Amino acid sequence: MLQLKAVSHIDDIPSTPGKFKLEKSPYVNRLRFHYFQSRLAIWSSFLIAFFLFFFFFSSRPFFGSGSLKQWGGPDWERRVSKSARLHSEPGLIVLVTGAAGFVGTHVSVALKRRGDGVLGLDNFNHYYDPQLKRARQKLLEKAGVFVVEGDINDSALLRKLFDVVPFTHVMHLAAQAGVRYAMKNSSSYVNSNIAGFVNLLEVCKSTDPQPAFVWASSSSVYGLNSKVPFSEKDRTDQPASLYAATKKAGEEIAHTYNHIYGLSITGLRFFTVYGPWGRPDMAYFFFTKDILKGKPIPIFEASDHGSVARDFTYIDDIVKGCLAALDTAKKSTGSGGKKKGPAQFRIFNLGNTSPVPVAELVSILEKLLKVKAKRKVLPMPRNGDVKFTHANISLAHKELGYRPTTDLETGLRKFVRWYLNFYPGSKKSGG
Ligand SMILES: NC(=O)c1ccc[n+]([C@@H]2O[C@H](COP(=O)([O-])OP(=O)(O)OC[C@H]3O[C@@H](n4cnc5c(N)ncnc54)[C@H](O)[C@@H]3O)[C@@H](O)[C@H]2O)c1
Repeated sequence: MLQLKAVSHIDDIPSTPGKFKLEKSPYVNRLRFHYFQSRLAIWSSFLIAFFLFFFFFSSRPFFGSGSLKQWGGPDWERRVSKSARLHSEPGLIVLVTGAAGFVGTHVSVALKRRGDGVLGLDNFNHYYDPQLKRARQKLLEKAGVFVVEGDINDSALLRKLFDVVPFTHVMHLAAQAGVRYAMKNSSSYVNSNIAGFVNLLEVCKSTDPQPAFVWASSSSVYGLNSKVPFSEKDRTDQPASLYAATKKAGEEIAHTYNHIYGLSITGLRFFTVYGPWGRPDMAYFFFTKDILKGKPIPIFEASDHGSVARDFTYIDDIVKGCLAALDTAKKSTGSGGKKKGPAQFRIFNLGNTSPVPVAELVSILEKLLKVKAKRKVLPMPRNGDVKFTHANISLAHKELGYRPTTDLETGLRKFVRWYLNFYPGSKKSGG
């Protein structure tokens, strides 16, 4: 009977609850207890879910491009130190950010080959095929370069790296690259190119001694400029894309850190870099893939029906420019966040000085691949791309001894050879 009553207690509640004295009934007390229990269960599940969510996301960088902590421990420190060890004196000890990227891989290998100490850092994000980044990592491992998997937004990791290694230089190449992707994922540009950039500069300015800082800006800062060739003295206040705007912001931020903290800073404005181990999001790369697949190739023409042209620069020339910038960088003057005197601040164009229309790039690829492309001429979309780029490199020539030597056909031949080797079967199977 009691059991039955307990189960059917809802029946005991009169339809006019205002008149019902809850505290007088033992069944109602039980009802209150059950009610309390179920609410407690609901709230504790919410709380647990909240803590799990907080724990999971708080160990990731702000915009979530990185992964859970994967660094630390004696073995990890041993690998870091070994990779950064100098093999010839005098030499540089360089932290290369974006080391698993296209330019980062080439620069790291070149530094290591001369006997410099090199440590890589990369978050292996999925902007393009991470398998390609892993393959570059293997190449780096063979060359003796360890790539730490982490994000430039992770201050604790950066401080740890500076604790373990007395870096003399930072070659900062990590960034969210690409012009068009900003229309899909704008926050990734702010995360890496602004927030991450500031985070890295913060750590660099606080170390003692401060490293000299060399970093990749971009020709895109010239934006809608029509005066050619682009000179470092030209205006850069009309960016045509968010990518360009973040690089321009980077140049201004760099100036601030140079001015306030005495960091020696060199910005390099790269012009359309291409070559083996390149980036799949760039035209020369996906044109090759699509020509082999028999897919149509979009060739954009400007609104005045003029051709779109780029100052394509071969990777080996860019590497020479990067190494020359590192070698000629003067020491930072500050230490532990305090400036002790004016420090070097430089910006250089690193281009090829001979723009080539994109249609001609396709003709060279057709010749090298021995496959006719299906060309589709389209009006240029408003997605952040500019009509042409053309570098004036006289400043880099004067101060860095920079002199590009590879013409587009020679460079593309090397790229195509690498591509067919890296993607075996792409020619026969059509991609
Ligand atoms: N390739 C070009 O034509 C070109 C032209 C102008 C400027 N640049 C600049 O040169 C640099 C290198 O370009 P790339 O072509 O080698 O690009 P890339 O995308 O191949 O290399 C960048 C690397 O940085 C890593 N990265 C991105 N955000 C990171 C973060 N928050 N923390 C750690 N790692 C991060 C990526 O995983 C990637 O491996 C970039 O700064 C780019 O903006 C390149």
